[in-house]
Amino acid sequence: MRRLRTSWLLQLVITLLCFQRCTTIRWLALYKSKHKEWESQKHCVKASGLLPRQRRLCKNHLEIMPTIVGASLLSIETCQSQFSDRRWNCSSISQVPTIPRDLSRGTREQAYVYGIASAALSHSVARACSIGVTTKCSCGALPNTAPNGAFKWGGCGDDVHFGLGWGQAFTDASLKSKKGKSKASKKAMMNRHNFAAGRKVVEFSLTTACKCHGVSGSCSIKTCWKALPDFDSIGATLKNRYALAVEVKRKRKKKQKVLVPIMANKKSIRSDELIYYTKSPDYCNPDSKSGSIGTQNRLCDKTSPGSGGCDVMCCGRGYDSFKMEVMERCECKYYWCCYVKCKTCVKTLNLSKCR
Ligand SMILES: *[C@@H]1O[C@H](CO)[C@@H](O)[C@H](O)[C@H]1NC(C)=O
Ligand SMILES: *[C@@H]1O[C@H](CO)[C@@H](O)[C@H](O)[C@H]1NC(C)=O
Repeated sequence: MRRLRTSWLLQLVITLLCFQRCTTIRWLALYKSKHKEWESQKHCVKASGLLPRQRRLCKNHLEIMPTIVGASLLSIETCQSQFSDRRWNCSSISQVPTIPRDLSRGTREQAYVYGIASAALSHSVARACSIGVTTKCSCGALPNTAPNGAFKWGGCGDDVHFGLGWGQAFTDASLKSKKGKSKASKKAMMNRHNFAAGRKVVEFSLTTACKCHGVSGSCSIKTCWKALPDFDSIGATLKNRYALAVEVKRKRKKKQKVLVPIMANKKSIRSDELIYYTKSPDYCNPDSKSGSIGTQNRLCDKTSPGSGGCDVMCCGRGYDSFKMEVMERCECKYYWCCYVKCKTCVKTLNLSKCR
C-alpha cells in the first residue's frame, strides 16, 4: 500500500516536471491564442505552447507565424475529418496544450498526430513561400533535369526545400535538451521518426502542375512546376501509413540505441513509415489509463458493415435509432434576372447512436 502510494506520487512529480518540456506538440494550441498579430518579438514569448528554441525561431521569422498558427488548425481539422467515422476520432487533441493520455503513451494514434502535425508545418510553410508572405523564401527551385514532354519549367512552385527545413527546425527544437543535445529516450526517438515521416510523405507527394499559354488557350506554350497536392490527400496518405504502422522496440546496436521492428521478418523501417511501441486499446469503453473516451452515444450508420457502421462502432453493445428533423432549403427556383428563391422544408433524418 505504502509502495503503491509512493509510485503514484513519483508519477505525479514526473508528470508535473514534464508538463513544460516533455510534450512536443504543445504548439498545436497556437490556434487558440487570442492575439492575432505577430508584430513584435513580445508575441513569441506570450504565445502558449512554444518551447524556448521555438520561441527563437518565432522571433527570427515573425512573418511566418500566422502560417504556423494556420498549420496547427489544419493538422487538427485534417485528423478529425480523416477519423470522423472511427472509434478513435481524434477528438482528444482539442485538449492541447494539455496532452491527453492516448497521445502520450507511444501509440499508433500518437504516431499519426505527430506525422500530420509535422506534415502540416512543412506543407503550409512551403505554400506560404510561393504566395510571398516572407522574404526568406520564395518560389521553389525549378528542377534541373530536362522536361520529359512538350513543356518548359517555369512559374512559381511551392518552396518545399525551405518548408521541409523550417518544419524540421521547428519540430526538432522540441526534441532537444536544454544544452542542445538530441533527446534519446524511447519516446523522443519515436516522435522524431514520426515527425520526419510526416515530412517524407510531403516530399514524396510532389507532383507536376502545368499551365497553358498561347492564343485562346491553344496551349502552344506550356510551363510546368513542382507543386504540392491539397493537404487532404496528404492526410489520407498518412492515414494509410497509420493502418500499416510498424511496431518497434528499442535495442542496443554496438554503442547506440536504435528502434527496430518487433516482427522478425521486417528488417528495417522506411523513412516514410509511422512507428509506435504501445499497442492501442480498442477505444470501445472509457478508460482513463489509456485515454480512451469510449463510443457511447456516438452516431453510427446501421447500414454500413465498415468502421462507421453500428456493429463496429458500438462494439456489439447495440444501438438506438431515432429521428431528427432538420430544416433545409428546397424547391429552389431561379427568377430572371437575377435571383434564386427557395422554400424551407423539414427533412426527417433516420439516425442511430451507440448504447
Ligand atoms: C468523437 O468522439 C467523442 C467521444 O466518443 C464524441 O464525444 C465526439 O462527438 C466525436 N466527434 C465527432 C465529430 O463525431
Ligand atoms: C426514415 O424512416 C422512415 C420510416 O420509419 C421512412 O419513411 C423515411 O423515408 C426514412 N428517411 C430517410 C431519409 O431515409
